[in-house]
Amino acid sequence: MTQRVLRGRLLTFHREPQSGDDTGAYTYLEDGALLIRDGIIEKTGPFAEVAALAGDAPVTDHRPHLMMAGFIDTHIHFPQVQVIASWGAQLLDWLNNYTFPEETRFASERHSARMAEAFFDQLIAHGTTTAVAFCSVHKTSAEAFFAEAARRNMRMLGGKVLMDRNAPETLRDTPQTGYDETKALIAGWHGKGRNGYVISPRFAITSTPEQMEMAQALAREHPDCHIQTHLSENRDEIAYTAQLYPKARDYLDVYQSYGLLGPKSLLGHAIHLQPREIDALAETGAHPVFCPTSNLFLGSGLFDDAGLRARGMVNGIATDVGAGTSYSMLQTLNEGYKILQLQGQALHPLRAFHWATRGNACVLGLEDRIGTLAPGSEADVIVLNARSTPAMALRMERAESLAEELFVLQMMGDDRAVEAVYVSGVPATPVPDRQAAANRAMQTA
Ligand code: GUN
Ligand code: ZN
Repeated sequence: MTQRVLRGRLLTFHREPQSGDDTGAYTYLEDGALLIRDGIIEKTGPFAEVAALAGDAPVTDHRPHLMMAGFIDTHIHFPQVQVIASWGAQLLDWLNNYTFPEETRFASERHSARMAEAFFDQLIAHGTTTAVAFCSVHKTSAEAFFAEAARRNMRMLGGKVLMDRNAPETLRDTPQTGYDETKALIAGWHGKGRNGYVISPRFAITSTPEQMEMAQALAREHPDCHIQTHLSENRDEIAYTAQLYPKARDYLDVYQSYGLLGPKSLLGHAIHLQPREIDALAETGAHPVFCPTSNLFLGSGLFDDAGLRARGMVNGIATDVGAGTSYSMLQTLNEGYKILQLQGQALHPLRAFHWATRGNACVLGLEDRIGTLAPGSEADVIVLNARSTPAMALRMERAESLAEELFVLQMMGDDRAVEAVYVSGVPATPVPDRQAAANRAMQTA
């Protein structure tokens, strides 16, 4: 048995805070601790109580920093680590001019393996301990993704994209090969260690009706797998989808008519929705996913969080790297705050930090395993420092409450604020070793 105690200022959420005064929604302990045994949180509480149970377990003291559950990113593209920050285009041109050519490189096993290592290094450096990722169309890319996740013992979800049209030839599967490769990947990786497979038709534009039928078959045969795709991100995309699927009542109807909507479905963007689509989303329990930095970067539009929540939807929040411009869920919350401000929806920091942890876990139906520091949870823990830059330290001199500190982290924080990361109770590199990781990346480039 391996065990350890982490001591620090501790924050964990029990439910979504309804307001800034909703103290029942979370536990905050000035001198808190976790007892971790074999990767699982055994006890959460005041340090004195935890220490009494801990025997001779080693103690790591992270005070005065803040311990919380690791961040969860519910929409990110693994093969886009080298197209992030590509200039000037909106969605369809960005895909055709930058992203599709880049993704063709993931036919190579070697390239996929190298990028997987770099991708997971970035997630850890930014405090993200679980992500839901699109791989490229190539089975090799998903193999590299899951192998690296398993090596690091991270709870990761992902899948190879299904795409059989409107893309370069080397980036197209067929309905049959997409089905067969997905089946093989599910057999090889779903439920292995902490990995979960996500059935991933990229979006309506890149899948023929025949491929959507195959995606439907996969979803029926594997009801325990999540499903991910993109929805109503950009007006030209919506118009093109209507041309390609003339019988669909609207964009969502493409996915709905192939049985792809349910509580395990994640729909990236969901910005320009018709009333019927909102009704259908609410009925099916599918989850819109807000991708703030991406939506600003591609000029896509403003996600209506409050409008969808008022209809009972449980929205995710995510980076969408490489259209998203930061791996940091802190920076994602920062830009999310601004997008919601433009619509008169001020995102309270308590709700923001709930969203990036337990909220996204609820979107995935995994809140009993990740997203909180409750006993029984997997010990994916991050330690945040709200004084990690001189500007933040200066601002923090005037902060008087937990909510203020969280808001400083939300607006000014990034990977520099991540002091430590534990995955399954074990310290994860490269946070203390950032320069070494950068050097390694230079050498292998
Ligand atoms: N729609 C289809 N593919 C993509 C993608 O890779 N990124 C974004 N932002 N939207 C998409
Ligand atoms: Zn995306």
